Amino acid sequence: MEVKTKSLLDNMIGVGDMVLLEPLSEDSFIENLRKRFDHNEIYTYIGSVVISVNPYKSMLIYTPEKVEEYRNRNFYELSPHIYALADEAYRSLRDQDKDQCILITGESGAGKTEASKLVMSYVAAVCGKGQEVNKVKEQLLQSNPVLEAFGNAKTVRNDNSSRFGKYMDIEFDFKGDPLGGVISNYLLEKSRVVKQPRGERNFHIFYQLLSGASDDTLKKLKLDRDFSKYNYLSLDSAVVNGLDDAANFRTVRNAMQIVGFMEDEVQSVLELVAAVLKLGNIEFKPESRCNGTDESRVKDKNDLKEMCELLGIEQSVLERAFSYRTVEAKMEKVSTTLNVAQAYYARDALAKNLYSRLFSWIVTRINESIKAQAKTRHKVMGVLDIYGFEIFEDNSFEQFIINYCNEKLQQIFIELTLREEQEEYIREGIEWTNIEYFNNAIICDLIENHQNGILAMLDEECLRPGTVTDETFLDKLNTVCAEHQHFESRLNKNSKFLNDHSLPHCCFRIQHYAGKVLYRVEGFVDKNNDLLYRDLSQAMYKANHTLIKHLFPEGNPAKVNLKRPPTAGFQFKASVGTLMRNLQTKNPNYIRCIKPNDKKAPHIFTESLVCHQVRYLGLMENVRVRRAGYAFRQAYEPCLERYKMLCKRTWPHWRGPAREGVEVLMADLQVPAEEFSYGRSKIFIRNPRTLFFLEERRRQCLQDLATLIQKIYRGWKCRTHFLLLKKSQIVVAAWYRRYAQQKKYQKIKSATTVVQSYTRGWQARKLLRELKHQKRCEEAATTIAAYWHGTQVRREYRKFFRANAGKKIYDFTIQRIMQKYFQGLKKTLPSMSPIDKNWPARPYIFLDGVHMELRRIFHLWRCKKYRSQFTDEKKAVYEEKLEASELFKDKKALYASSVSQPFKGDYLEISKNPKYQKLNSSVDEKVLLADVVNKINRANGKGTTRILLLTKKNVVLADQKTGQVKANVALPDLTSVSVSTQNDGFFALRLKEGSASAVKGDFLLSSEHLIETITKLHHIGSTASDGEQLNVDISDEFLVQFKHDKVCVKFIQGAPKNGNSVSCKRKNNRLLEVSVPASA
Ligand SMILES: Nc1ncnc2c1ncn2[C@@H]1O[C@H](COP(=O)(O)OP(=O)(O)OP(=O)(O)O)[C@@H](O)[C@H]1O
Ligand SMILES: [Mg+2]
Repeated sequence: MEVKTKSLLDNMIGVGDMVLLEPLSEDSFIENLRKRFDHNEIYTYIGSVVISVNPYKSMLIYTPEKVEEYRNRNFYELSPHIYALADEAYRSLRDQDKDQCILITGESGAGKTEASKLVMSYVAAVCGKGQEVNKVKEQLLQSNPVLEAFGNAKTVRNDNSSRFGKYMDIEFDFKGDPLGGVISNYLLEKSRVVKQPRGERNFHIFYQLLSGASDDTLKKLKLDRDFSKYNYLSLDSAVVNGLDDAANFRTVRNAMQIVGFMEDEVQSVLELVAAVLKLGNIEFKPESRCNGTDESRVKDKNDLKEMCELLGIEQSVLERAFSYRTVEAKMEKVSTTLNVAQAYYARDALAKNLYSRLFSWIVTRINESIKAQAKTRHKVMGVLDIYGFEIFEDNSFEQFIINYCNEKLQQIFIELTLREEQEEYIREGIEWTNIEYFNNAIICDLIENHQNGILAMLDEECLRPGTVTDETFLDKLNTVCAEHQHFESRLNKNSKFLNDHSLPHCCFRIQHYAGKVLYRVEGFVDKNNDLLYRDLSQAMYKANHTLIKHLFPEGNPAKVNLKRPPTAGFQFKASVGTLMRNLQTKNPNYIRCIKPNDKKAPHIFTESLVCHQVRYLGLMENVRVRRAGYAFRQAYEPCLERYKMLCKRTWPHWRGPAREGVEVLMADLQVPAEEFSYGRSKIFIRNPRTLFFLEERRRQCLQDLATLIQKIYRGWKCRTHFLLLKKSQIVVAAWYRRYAQQKKYQKIKSATTVVQSYTRGWQARKLLRELKHQKRCEEAATTIAAYWHGTQVRREYRKFFRANAGKKIYDFTIQRIMQKYFQGLKKTLPSMSPIDKNWPARPYIFLDGVHMELRRIFHLWRCKKYRSQFTDEKKAVYEEKLEASELFKDKKALYASSVSQPFKGDYLEISKNPKYQKLNSSVDEKVLLADVVNKINRANGKGTTRILLLTKKNVVLADQKTGQVKANVALPDLTSVSVSTQNDGFFALRLKEGSASAVKGDFLLSSEHLIETITKLHHIGSTASDGEQLNVDISDEFLVQFKHDKVCVKFIQGAPKNGNSVSCKRKNNRLLEVSVPASA
């Protein structure tokens, strides 16, 4: 079940914010605190300041659920809690980039350290997460147990009292994730190391080490578990209720490991702690010297030995340092002996220095580990947990310093809240009745003034040559500060204090803002000097121990510095000054811790004690200022920016000045006028309730705005999506439509084409029909017209035709027909070849004769044309061929084969061939034919080859081989030539009877070129001058005159058994048979 934390304004127990307290008085204030305390409400606000009353019991208000509850909530929204302050600080650091500091003040035991831890744990819980961030957080948180072990101790007021001041800067990145931190420590109460007031303990670590370390570790450290063995450990309250030292030791070891201490570093630290314990056990005894003075000697050297062994120091060196003191002045070294008291002083000084330096080293070492790595600008949250105001019975230098620090803090508080607030009202022109408050600047001045401040006086005394004692210091104060109204002393010149017997002689009293404190001057000078004899620091430096060597750098003989180190007071003043300057740069958040009782017990509320704290913390003044003023203020711009959404006129943009915007806003929200005021640059809101009202409205409005933004975004997203879909759909549809239309168009187009083609066809046919009809009509009309005209003409001309019209028409017609005939013939004439037999058919019978005549004429004409192309030689050849044709065509079978043979004549090339040169020369005439022939032997019919030469006058037969003329026949002696009708080359030259050549008889010869030879012979005869022609007999039987006999030569068709050759055989005396193959 969710636990609903009560709202600040719904507060049932008293009032959660003192500003709302009515009536306001110190009593009602304390009563309110008491009432709330009784009801376990330990936190109460004064505006933004948290008052925390220590409950001294564990409360269920720091659970993780509570963290979640306060997380990101408005400061005034829930009931007061330290978490609300932590959340507010963290958020303004993260969101508004304002560095924060959390100032936790209150007296010892009031709960400051607890509060600081609560703040840190809250911030750790709400800031970012992640491996690296968690490591940083863990280291920051774990630095606490380590520092508490070494710096806290049980006191009468607090079992875990912080004996040092601590200021921790936690560094964050821009996201608000922790990056690291820096711890500053202030003035460890080191006197506690050597001496503790009654009922108090030394620092926790001593007890934790002895109770929690293993036997082995203790043995190594040469320690004994028994507390009583160690002088520096007070025996009373060695064991504290509810404090488990052994368990805490383990926690510390573990924390040291987490923070990043190396194992050897932890060991060194423990060795140093052990060494301090050992140091406390070193005792001295006096030894008289001859000059009458006492010199100290170490009593029992065992502890000294063990300590030297632990730290690696040469025993004799340390022993000597406890007996002698070397003073260096003006280059001279003077060694003086130490008496027992001085030796103890030296020992304690060493122990205190050792421990305080060890503590500072631990802080430095932790800082090294938790140092932020990133170099980017950090946001910083500082947490200051410093010792509270202390008023003891015996107040010494430490209390003086602590209270000085608290004065300074009060000063800051005044600076930042009271004075600043009032000044702001004046600056802003807000009507304001001044509230009187006590400004403690005067007390700060009393302490820290450079010329006559108490710290300056103390330093002056410490540095002054001559005898300096606490008394001389007090005397000085008495003279210098006597007039100061906050300074009191018995020896004060101001007579009114002379009677103040409550003031002892060796004391002075300061009227702090928190009350009067009596300080005993004893030890002031010493503590301020904080002297450690140089012999001791040199002895430490000589140690064979890295850490020790590191802690005492001034012991290095090479770096001897004769200048006195700065005094404790000076150092503290400087560091407090730095701290204050640091705090002033940050936004302060106050936690005022109040201790309800002195008994560390729950449920007890000691009013007088609380009243005292309320007074010195200035809480009443704080409330008064708050009440008189305004709970909240904000510059107009951020205010308008923050709340502008609450008014329609200012949302989303206000164009005018911011102040007017805020005025419009407030008017619109109907906030009562007395609840706020308008300053020059800020609006001041009187009551947190108003602020809360604004915040609540804003929260609601933001939710509505978020819903609106969400709505608009979703709408936009859906619309964008829809538009995209629509666009896609249009594209798809367009494509589909295009496709469908294309399909449809193609269908329509083809249909149209079909329809069109049919229509056109139909139209064309129709047109054709019409045209045909028209043409027929026209033709008919023409015919009719022609007939009609004819009739007309005939009727007209009938009278003229009667006489000779018929003849004229006939002639005309014939003329026309002839014209047409000739024109037709012209076109169809056959080719120009004389052998072309074609001739067009005749068109009319009556032209038959003409047609044939024309054919003949045409033939003759083309022959003439053909002939006209011939040369004389060619003409002669053709004439010869013609003659051959006339002689043999259709008469002798051999003729056909001769037509294609050219008539060469001189087959032997007689004139050129040297072989026949002689023969050629024997012939007078030009040789017309020279050929090889066979002379048929009349006896057996066999042939003998002979050369036949033919000239114009004779026929010569010569031997083929010798060229000798065998016979020379004059052509006129030849009567005829006989040849067969067949396909053979036989011929007989028949001679004139009685001629000279006829002596031997006729010649029967056979020639390859029979036709040519006979034609030539015939031609010579026909061209001879005598005009006597040679007869050519063609017959298959003829008679040949061989000498005296007449032999018949008969040609028969022979079977082609003897091949194709013609054979000639003598059959009998009168018959020579020539067989000619049929196919030859
Ligand atoms: N919020 C709290 N809830 C429960 N107990 C608390 C709370 N605050 C403080 N205490 C108790 O009071 C004791 C003292 O508190 P704390 O150590 O914080 O005081 P302090 O102000 O730091 O004192 P000193 O100045 O001595 O260091 C704690 O040990 C614890 O027991
Ligand atoms: Mg503390």
